[in-house]
Amino acid sequence: MIKFDVLTLFPNMFDGFLSESIIKRAIEDKKIKVDITNFRDYSDNKNNQVDDTPYGGGEGMVLMCDPIVKAIEEKKKKNTKVILMSPQGTKFDQKKAIELSKESHLIFVCGHYEGFDERIKNFVDEEISIGDYVLTGGELPAMILIDSISRLVPGVIREGSSLNDSFMDDLLDYPTYTKPREYRGMKVPDVLLSGDHKKIDEWRKEKQIENTKEKRPDLIKDKENVIKETGKYSLIDDKEEKSLISINIADSYNFLPNNRVKKSDLASINKVMVVEPTFINNLAKANVEKKIKILMKQANIVLNDETDDEGAVYVLGELQRMQELLLTQYAKYLGMDYVSLMQIKLEAIKNGINAKLMAKMNVQNFEGKRGRGR
Ligand SMILES: C[S@@+](CC[C@H](N)C(=O)[O-])C[C@H]1O[C@@H](n2cnc3c(N)ncnc32)[C@H](O)[C@@H]1O
Repeated sequence: MIKFDVLTLFPNMFDGFLSESIIKRAIEDKKIKVDITNFRDYSDNKNNQVDDTPYGGGEGMVLMCDPIVKAIEEKKKKNTKVILMSPQGTKFDQKKAIELSKESHLIFVCGHYEGFDERIKNFVDEEISIGDYVLTGGELPAMILIDSISRLVPGVIREGSSLNDSFMDDLLDYPTYTKPREYRGMKVPDVLLSGDHKKIDEWRKEKQIENTKEKRPDLIKDKENVIKETGKYSLIDDKEEKSLISINIADSYNFLPNNRVKKSDLASINKVMVVEPTFINNLAKANVEKKIKILMKQANIVLNDETDDEGAVYVLGELQRMQELLLTQYAKYLGMDYVSLMQIKLEAIKNGINAKLMAKMNVQNFEGKRGRGR
């Protein structure tokens, strides 16, 4: 059980947040406790004033020390951590959420108006920001922290379901699918329907790595440190673990192995690098041909389905992406002659789909005119 105390001037902002969905259930199940306190109640001023104009002049009102400090002192216990919501704080992330989910009592202080009297900082343990932008108050940031921390408290969500969440392992989450098995020509990957859980786990890990490399390469790069670089190879070290994590070889053809070999006490193979030129050529060709075969299958489906215009547009996009991939990724291994040949093949499929879309538009126009002519 983790207890959150929130100090705010706008307690009603929390009503919807605390009375819906997972947070509501976590409170009912006594996994978390959330108390919202209006720190105006701690003002000694006869008008319950909590803010005043800034010394030195300037716009806006500044929150005074006394009501907030008194509220903190009353709420604080032996193991409490007091956090000030502030755009100037350390940027919040999943690592911080994990760290805070191990605390037993957190007090969140929400600012408003122009901010706080600077001296309040002497009464808090930490300042946290939810991002490099300024909000009107600390209430939304406090809700964000409560939400992300609560889902890490054991029993709040189904055991294990946060383990693959984005950022948990410095990796983004893997792609997920639900019914139907096929939507507008796009199919759920076969492996997910195979029932082979070992294969599914491997596929998901592979997709997490792919996803992160594509969308957030900084998450992986931040961990890596090149420790030796020659013209031909570089050794990549893990900054935190201080251990060698991979070797990069210039001009190698890299891929993620299907069945990652694991020898827990020795090493795990996460990446295969092929350096022998003829082998590279064969592998890259096989890969391109496999991709084109899949595209041809997808094209066939949309060409045979009169109604699936959206599917047709989707396949056109995929064909275009493959043409770009050939130029940016494969040309260096396979040469321009081979790439041009594949481009012609892809162009022909694109022409077929475009012709189908055009023919359909012409028929619709013709029928429209005929209808008006009657
Ligand atoms: C309008 S802001 C004050 C900003 C202040 N003048 C500054 O530039 O640092 C009012 C309050 O909203 C909260 N707040 C605004 N943006 C925030 C962010 N990105 N993260 C956390 N709290 C934020 C803080 O509690 C802040 O005191």
